[in-house]
Amino acid sequence: MFDSGLGGLTVLAELVRALPNERFIYFGDTARVPYGAKSARIVQRYSDEVSRFLLGHDIKLLVIACNTATAHAESLLRKELSIPVLGVIQPGVDALLAGTQNRRVGVLATRSTIKSGAYERRILEREPSARVYNKACALFVPLVEEGWIDKRVTGLVIQEYLSELVREEVDTVVLGCTHYPLLKKSIREQFPDLQLIDSSEETARATSRLLEESGIRSQTPAGGVRIFLTDITDQMNHLETLLAGLAVSSVEEVQL
Ligand code: DGL
Repeated sequence: MFDSGLGGLTVLAELVRALPNERFIYFGDTARVPYGAKSARIVQRYSDEVSRFLLGHDIKLLVIACNTATAHAESLLRKELSIPVLGVIQPGVDALLAGTQNRRVGVLATRSTIKSGAYERRILEREPSARVYNKACALFVPLVEEGWIDKRVTGLVIQEYLSELVREEVDTVVLGCTHYPLLKKSIREQFPDLQLIDSSEETARATSRLLEESGIRSQTPAGGVRIFLTDITDQMNHLETLLAGLAVSSVEEVQL
């Protein structure tokens, strides 16, 4: 699996919990994060390079943990690679539509993901009568990266981004970015009636189904996580917290 950086570890944690018989390789493109402010062309090129690296490690299935990479590169990688490829957007959309009562739904994501229209397109394909409210939450990623989860300023930013959606009577929103699940508690405190969809949980279920359908699900306990990052800096002090509880066998720095 890969992500633009470390945020995708939220998806990895769910996958490890759901699939104890599988071994995982996590690739975080920490040297080039964030993808969320970049163009489709660049995100496609980066995703292609990362996938080639992972194929060199003999993977049997690829999970694109990054929403922005899924938005721009999922269909491309599906065509190019001979292994099953799963992105985080469709599982999130399925859960969003299963959860909403009034079909007024919100999409919270990076600018680049919102601009791609990937969520809105898939929602309307499945439920043409849905009303979709998109919100690019550009400040959420830096706040989470800084570890500012419970700060007053974070509360104000949440208020700013979400109050319009709530005014429009949106009842369910998908957290369409790897970092946003870490803000779940703060969002719930301010908007307790809003249903939040965490695509990492849904992606773990979808991965499990895809392994089964493709006949490649491991039957014997294996486990183990290898992590590759394109840059390791001393600002990654939250790496240890994110990795807590995962059986990580190595964290290596690589160049593509
Ligand atoms: N991983 C990205 C996503 O899920 C968020 C961080 C970034 O902008 O690279 O969209």
